[in-house]
Amino acid sequence: MIATFIPPEKLGTPKMSDSPWELLPTGSNHAASLDGLYLFLTGVCAVSFVLVIGAMFYFMWKYKRRGDDDKTSPLTHNGKLEFAWSAVPAVFLMLFFIWGELDFVKLSAPPSDAIDIRVTGQKWYWTIEYPGRPVASTTTVLDGEIAPLLVVPLNQPVRLIMTSTDVIHSFYIPAFRVKKDVIPGRYTAIWFTPIIEGTFPVFCTEYCGDEHSSMLAVVKVVPPEQYEEEVRKATTLEQGEGESREQFGEKVYKSFACNSCHNTDNTVKVGPGFGGLYGKTETLTDGSTLVVDENYLRESIYQPNAKVVAGFTPQMPTFAGQINDDQLDALISYIQSLK
Ligand code: CUA
Repeated sequence: MIATFIPPEKLGTPKMSDSPWELLPTGSNHAASLDGLYLFLTGVCAVSFVLVIGAMFYFMWKYKRRGDDDKTSPLTHNGKLEFAWSAVPAVFLMLFFIWGELDFVKLSAPPSDAIDIRVTGQKWYWTIEYPGRPVASTTTVLDGEIAPLLVVPLNQPVRLIMTSTDVIHSFYIPAFRVKKDVIPGRYTAIWFTPIIEGTFPVFCTEYCGDEHSSMLAVVKVVPPEQYEEEVRKATTLEQGEGESREQFGEKVYKSFACNSCHNTDNTVKVGPGFGGLYGKTETLTDGSTLVVDENYLRESIYQPNAKVVAGFTPQMPTFAGQINDDQLDALISYIQSLK
C-alpha cells in the first residue's frame, strides 16, 4: 500500500529558524550570497544611520544659539566636504547594484542540467508535476492545513516552471531565498540547488483571495539516490490493500486539498459543505432545481461552473486531468458517506 498522505510527525516539522534573530536555514546555493548582501545592506544602513543622526545631534548641541548676540556663521559651503558626502555613498550604491545584479543574473540563469518540475497555482492549492510522472498528490499538514509536497534531490539543480490557472499567486521558499510570481497565461521560472536535507515551508506571497494564507506547501530535500523512489511515492494515489472506498476517497479529498473550500459537515466554507450533500435538492443560480447525485458531483468536479448552486460564486477550478476516474469514484463514495 502506498500512503500518499504523510503525517507531519513522519516528515518532521518544516524548519524555519530557531530564534527570531537567527537568519533562515541556508537551504540553497543562492542563500549565502543573498544573506551576505542583506547583512551588508543592513550593516551599511546601520553605520550611516549612526553617523548621520549622531552628527545631527552633535551639531545641534555644538551650534545651539547661546544668546541674543550669537551670530550665524558666515560660512556658506565646503566644496571638499560636499564632494565627499556625495562620492562615498555613490561608491556604496554602486556596490549594492553590482552585488545585486550578479545575484540576479545567477538567479535568472538555470544550469542546463537542471531537473524541470512544473508547478501550477490555483485558488488555493499548488499542483506539482514531475517529468514523466502523473500529477503529484502527496500532501502533508503545515500549520493545520493540508499542503502539497514538493520533493527535490540534494545537491542537484532544480528548475520550477510555474503558471497559474486563475489569478496571480507567488511561489516563495524562504529557506532557499527564491520567490517568483505565478501568473495565468504565461510561464515563470525559478531555480535552485538544495544544499541541506530536510523539509522547508513554501508560502504563497501574492494576495489571491479568502484562503491565500492557507495556500501552503512543503519542500522535502532528499538524498539523490532516494529521489526517484520518493517521487514515485509522491505521485501515486491508489486504493491501498484493506482500505475501503470511502477511506480512499477521504485520501483523495485530502490530497487534492478539497478541504480548503469544502467542510465535511454541512457548514459553508468557500463552497458548500459535503455533509448531507448527496441526495439533497439544490436550487441553481438560474432558478432551476436538481437533486445531487453521482453525475452532478462528477460534473461539478470536472466542470465546476456548469451548474452553480444559488448563493455561491463560480470560482472553483476544474480538476479534469488531475483526478482520474478511479479517484473520482472513490471521492464520490466518500461524499456519499458524509452525513
Ligand atoms: Cu495564492 Cu496567495
